[in-house]
Amino acid sequence: MEFSGKESRKLKSVDREEIVRIERFAGEGPALAYDKDGKILFVRYVLPNELVKVKIYKEAKDYAMADPLEIIEPSPLRRDAPCEYFAMCGGCDYQMITYAEQIKAKKSLVEETFRRVANMDISITGILESPKELGYRNNMTYKVNPRRELIGFFRKDSKSIVDIKKCALEMPSISGALHSMKTQHLEKLEEYPFPKHNFKVRATTTDEIGVYWVPTKYYEDKAVYETISVAGKSLKYKISKDSFFQVNPFLVPFWLEKIISFLDEEKSEKIVDLYCGIGLITLFVSFYAKETIGVEIAKSSVLDANHNKEINEIDSNVSFMLGDAGECLKQIGSADVIIVDPPRAGMDDITRDLLLEYAPKKIIYSSCKASTMARDIGILSEKYELKELYLVDMFPQTHHVELLSLLVRKDV
Ligand SMILES: C[S@@+](CC[C@H](N)C(=O)[O-])C[C@H]1O[C@@H](n2cnc3c(N)ncnc32)[C@H](O)[C@@H]1O
Repeated sequence: MEFSGKESRKLKSVDREEIVRIERFAGEGPALAYDKDGKILFVRYVLPNELVKVKIYKEAKDYAMADPLEIIEPSPLRRDAPCEYFAMCGGCDYQMITYAEQIKAKKSLVEETFRRVANMDISITGILESPKELGYRNNMTYKVNPRRELIGFFRKDSKSIVDIKKCALEMPSISGALHSMKTQHLEKLEEYPFPKHNFKVRATTTDEIGVYWVPTKYYEDKAVYETISVAGKSLKYKISKDSFFQVNPFLVPFWLEKIISFLDEEKSEKIVDLYCGIGLITLFVSFYAKETIGVEIAKSSVLDANHNKEINEIDSNVSFMLGDAGECLKQIGSADVIIVDPPRAGMDDITRDLLLEYAPKKIIYSSCKASTMARDIGILSEKYELKELYLVDMFPQTHHVELLSLLVRKDV
């Protein structure tokens, strides 16, 4: 059994203590142990082999959720978490182990996910580590309780807000904006009260900041511009409030470099980039293609993508389509390479079936959810061989991973 992250909603409350030996990480954050009756327990913030006194707080027929009360026998791998809010705010899962151990855990969880979901015995072929373990996140959405004047994040499996001064994962400039949002009401200006509801902050590596959804005295509700440099080329990207951008800009160049390495050098390929956002991948790969088409469903992202093509004076043959990936792909037809970078749900049946029907020479699939990627690759493996699978660690300290794969048609 694996943890889906939605369990607590289906369980009934209980209150029981037990001492258990932790077996292994279970994916989506917690580790797995068995209670004295052999029932599966999902326990957060503990490590394999540790002996732990736990409080079981929610239970179903065949599994239960537990919190650690005391680590009786700590693992030698355990370290002090770098953040004072770890295990209170629900954002991080693995701060209690070193970065190298986090990578090891994620690697085996991904391999296990492919076995479980797709019955595929795969090995990660490479790892792209994040240049920063902390301070890497370029956007944060804060939860607000205006009555109690709290700003922070939900406790794990709860709607109660843990008030924070700063998040260890966010860029320092975001912490500055958070401080400003927590204190602007002290100036007693009617138009700048304590935030009345949740708000979002976006930052760039050059410390441009946008603050959205609430009035701010010291920041603007504006698009920001990020510059990404890969293989001797620097491109500037406009990111509007409602557009998607990868959260770890420090790792993005290495990920893009790897994507480019999967392309042919002759610039002879037609490339379709499905789920293209603001054209982050599209514009870079267009330099290595005969023709490139980006497809994206969010209007603001497509507007940004076209703007980004213009401000970077890109004259390679690149265009963007607004619409659903599957619907647009039907209009486009086949290509030599199809890049897909879908949301966590993965591809829908129509899009996946079209990939099998059009059978491009290569599919480059990037995903932030191992289980849906495993499902899709399992189905695509009817015609494709998985040649490369990179763990791209966009989200250090959390259980989340980005995966980048190269699938090559079996008859090529
Ligand atoms: C994980 S993001 C990837 C964006 C882009 N590749 C990047 O790296 O910046 C997924 C994108 O898919 C878009 N999207 C979601 N559902 C879609 C659909 N059915 N068809 C096309 N795009 C979709 C989202 O708006 C989002 O921009």
